[in-house]
Amino acid sequence: MNYVQELKAENNKEIFKKIHNSTWEEKHVISNNFSLTKQQRFFSEIEGINKYDLIYFDAFGPEKQPDLWTKEIFDKMYSALKLNGILVTYASKGDVKRAMRSAGFSLKRLPGPLGKWHMLRATKI
Ligand SMILES: C[S@@+](CC[C@H](N)C(=O)[O-])C[C@H]1O[C@@H](n2cnc3c(N)ncnc32)[C@H](O)[C@@H]1O
Repeated sequence: MNYVQELKAENNKEIFKKIHNSTWEEKHVISNNFSLTKQQRFFSEIEGINKYDLIYFDAFGPEKQPDLWTKEIFDKMYSALKLNGILVTYASKGDVKRAMRSAGFSLKRLPGPLGKWHMLRATKI
């Protein structure tokens, strides 16, 4: 995919390549302040407490996979995040927001990136 060109991010080409070439289950230092460990597992298998700074929750939407947008899944992600950790996602349906709030997240709707109207930022408070 041609994201580097589409996003006019030629300066970040090497970072983009490093992210996409990262092997599973190993920590990769992508830049001075960003490391990435890709874990190959189901969302329902997320575990750990106060472990992560950021979750990019790019699941297929709640119409396609309603089982991924439940309080049970958000509870796991809430526990796995550090305090003030952030989950971002593109879904912003009422049911999804209710499930996230009941897991404990504080929500803010933000303008989306290229091609998306909105995104949702959920903060562990
Ligand atoms: C919208 S795509 C996101 C792709 C991702 N942003 C990427 O760059 O590879 C949704 C992804 O969720 C994965 N997926 C579907 N069900 C899942 C589950 N129960 N647990 C974890 N991942 C799942 C799919 O295989 C697919 O790769």
